[in-house]
Amino acid sequence: MRPWSVLGIFVLLAVNEASAFKANDFKTCSQSGFCRRGRALSSRATEAKSWVSPYSVDPTTIDVSSDQASFSATVKSSLYPETNFGLEIRIQDDGVARVRMDEVGGLRKRYDEAASWALIKEPVINKEIHWTKGKKDAKVVYGDKKDISVIVSYEPLRVSLLRNGKEQVVLNGQGLLHMEHFRNKVEAPTSTEEPPAVEGEATDAEQALLKVEVNPRAWFEGETEDALWEETFSSWTDSKPKGPESLSVDIAFPNHPVVYGIPQHATNLALPSTRGEKPTFTDPYRLYNSDVFEYLASSPVSLYGSIPLMHAHSADSTVAVFHVVGSDTWIDVSHASEKSTETHWISESGILDTFLLPGPTPEDVFRQYSKLTGTAVMPAQWSLGYHQCRWNYVSSEDVRSVQRRFDEEDMPVDVFWLDIEYSDNHKYFMWNDKLFPDPVEMTNDVAANGRKMVVIVDPHLKREDNYPAYKEASELGVLVKPKSGEGEYEGWCWPGSSSWTDFFNPAAWDWWKSMFKTEPQGGSKFSWVKSSTDIHIWNDMNEPSVFNGPEISMPRDNIHYGGWEHRDVHNINGMLFSNLTYQAVAARTDPATRPFVLTRAFFAGSQRFGAMWTGDNLGTWDHMAVGVKMVLANGIAGMSFSGSDVGGFFGNPEPEMLVRWYQVGIMAPFFRAHAHIDTKRREPYLLDEPYKSLVKDILRLRYSMLPIWYTAFRETSVTGMPILRPQFVVFPKDKAGFNIDDQYYIGSSGLLTKPITAKEVKETTIRLAEDQIYYDYFSHHAYRGSSKGKEVTLQAELHQLPLLVRGGSIISTRERPRRSSSLMKNDPFTMRVALSKAGTAKGELYLDDGVTYNHEKGDFVWRQFNAEKKGKALRVSSLDLGKVKPSEAVDGVALSTYNPSNEYAKSIEDVRVEKLVVVGLGTKPSSVKVEGSEKELQWEWTAGVGAGDRKEGQASLLTIKDPKVLITKDWTLVIQ
Ligand code: NOJ
Repeated sequence: MRPWSVLGIFVLLAVNEASAFKANDFKTCSQSGFCRRGRALSSRATEAKSWVSPYSVDPTTIDVSSDQASFSATVKSSLYPETNFGLEIRIQDDGVARVRMDEVGGLRKRYDEAASWALIKEPVINKEIHWTKGKKDAKVVYGDKKDISVIVSYEPLRVSLLRNGKEQVVLNGQGLLHMEHFRNKVEAPTSTEEPPAVEGEATDAEQALLKVEVNPRAWFEGETEDALWEETFSSWTDSKPKGPESLSVDIAFPNHPVVYGIPQHATNLALPSTRGEKPTFTDPYRLYNSDVFEYLASSPVSLYGSIPLMHAHSADSTVAVFHVVGSDTWIDVSHASEKSTETHWISESGILDTFLLPGPTPEDVFRQYSKLTGTAVMPAQWSLGYHQCRWNYVSSEDVRSVQRRFDEEDMPVDVFWLDIEYSDNHKYFMWNDKLFPDPVEMTNDVAANGRKMVVIVDPHLKREDNYPAYKEASELGVLVKPKSGEGEYEGWCWPGSSSWTDFFNPAAWDWWKSMFKTEPQGGSKFSWVKSSTDIHIWNDMNEPSVFNGPEISMPRDNIHYGGWEHRDVHNINGMLFSNLTYQAVAARTDPATRPFVLTRAFFAGSQRFGAMWTGDNLGTWDHMAVGVKMVLANGIAGMSFSGSDVGGFFGNPEPEMLVRWYQVGIMAPFFRAHAHIDTKRREPYLLDEPYKSLVKDILRLRYSMLPIWYTAFRETSVTGMPILRPQFVVFPKDKAGFNIDDQYYIGSSGLLTKPITAKEVKETTIRLAEDQIYYDYFSHHAYRGSSKGKEVTLQAELHQLPLLVRGGSIISTRERPRRSSSLMKNDPFTMRVALSKAGTAKGELYLDDGVTYNHEKGDFVWRQFNAEKKGKALRVSSLDLGKVKPSEAVDGVALSTYNPSNEYAKSIEDVRVEKLVVVGLGTKPSSVKVEGSEKELQWEWTAGVGAGDRKEGQASLLTIKDPKVLITKDWTLVIQ
């Protein structure tokens, strides 16, 4: 049945007037032709009494392949019977279903390489499964318990993934699938012909019928052709030489009330609605990497990076879709009912390549996604320390004096950063010789304290023939081309007239790597000899930001390698730049050492190449608060190594705000203070008391916790679990926690924090969603949760960071203040055994040299600590985990060569535990000994609440001084 009743209805979507977004530089959906078309399609479908997708599977073409492993068929659209689409569904060995659809035999080709950049390898197909072909649908049932099924309904086409017979993910259930086929432009008739005149009064139905005769596809595609062949925005015209090729698809999550992911947007972790009843936002979420000046703290506009991964969650199930498209994509979210979520994805170009991740737990989804796109890279250990940045430290003397001031105040710091003004007229690699006459010596002075420098290298190349980077790229022919496909695209950025390297061109790869060599390479080739292997790299502006381009970026009709237009690859572009820089920095030494590269633009897979940050935030409380949510969202989409500019990029935060921002910063994986060129200096040593001492303590706290962060990074690099874990990840069944995005756990450590992001706060509440004891990290006050969930109140004055230790955790820290993290290498450990209500605890500690790749050969120390009751005694023991852990690895982490007495372990064999504190022991012990020794250890007892009591209050503390046990060895302490 054709939905007649919607004929003639065309909803022109209003510009989002509620938005206070200042810059008019960016399109709203209604200013973007393909989004307007996609949303109008959905409006017509919503208003239609009945709506049936025109797409259907031709059952005569179904092929379930000889080994039965994949399903393929021809899909037809009843509107364009002459056009064919190929549909393919592959079930992977881990249960993920991949749905691909592309036009077959069309006039032109769609971009089909987005997945090849995002995936670590071609996924392994499950060959043990069998499709059954029925009259109306085809079905496959699989999974260890045969609980998952995928059903392809033929007419209309509908693909659903079910668990135990319940639908979890449905594609095209609302009939919004539309792959605009390639077509030839039909020139508009020169005369304005009126439709035939109608005699007499026509009924509505007759009117509608007449319109059908004029345009029989109007019910689906709208009555008029809308921006198919050309589009203007502000003063720019996009030529769209291939014509329309957008892709619209609805993806529903029945029985999943919340969705998370699709970073990066400044909004809540649980994505607010953009469609349906009273939507929070009136525009869809957009994924189009953009340099947004002064972005809003609550908005669906696209920001610097895009990861098309969405988790859908309920108390019984978590599933996800990974919709691999590299072009501009808009996503509507509608909370269709209290139980379910409907989404609608509209992309400008590219094939349909959608992975359905069956979960059913958040942990499963993380594993499934990491298996596709890889886990976060194991960072250089120093990069977890504190990074001091500003635009700009203006000279090498300035850098030295900032370092001196940190040292005078005994404030730890690992990295000093140089923004664009270090360079000669924004020609990166080239120093401003007047201000930085001695870059190598300057870096050596920083490195003498075990520190590093990070220097910015942006992707725009100043078009000057005396600039080696531009000259070499130009001679190699690896610069992005304008729409003519000839010559070099020229745009405007910091250096003025610039061009951009096309990193899709393999010929650019080795060249870019060679640019970072610190040794002369001979001939006329440039080498960055005025550099050092202690310099690491910041890749900014790689959306790419082009000041005089449409939406502050490149024209979409620019041409990349292979003839693809920029529109096809826009969101992937920035990832390739940081990927190549990462490889370049690694290749400076032989053997390679771990590079640090910070990127602003990112895509699915960017986690393999380093860290990102949330860009140019404002020094406001709102931005501080939303930054926490954004970092959580990045983490659940694989980008764990993420943080926001501490202090806010724009503005001059007052001291209270700065202190709070440092508290937020130390609780993020990437911890960097940064400030705009127009702001006042705000290095922490410039603060007055008491703020200065507060920040010093905060910095020291971060350093003492580095073993926890490093262990968490190790875990994420092996398992793909995010480092910052929001409530829904740790307590998937706790409905009251689904919307919580201001408190979170750090890795598997058991630490739970809720940094304060508002003014003049004195106390706060934290939700404890389990019947367990939690201890205040600093005061050891014991709080009790409840299996129904309970809010506990914590003091949160300015000097207090809300930080709890979950009962049952063992935390390892290094408490000796040092100037930088590398100076902590041989420092002893303090261990905190936070007993659970059952009187037990466990924890992990991972260590390696932090610099080389020897950990991949098994050079590391990975310990598990266990506190168990045996009779009346509590036994705290240390075990080797190195052999056990790799079995959890997502992929490719080959650690079979692990050897407990490896070189790294030997290098720290004297490192000991200097203090071990047992929190929550029920009664005062009478003896504490190392098993196998008769000697009583030195210990102190402070009476207090025991973990097994049902009380709250000050917990008991057993402090064992210098138990004389080594961190690399097995041992047991017997407490009785
Ligand atoms: C924009 C970046 O987001 C900001 O952090 C940087 O300071 C400026 N570019 C100048 O390089």
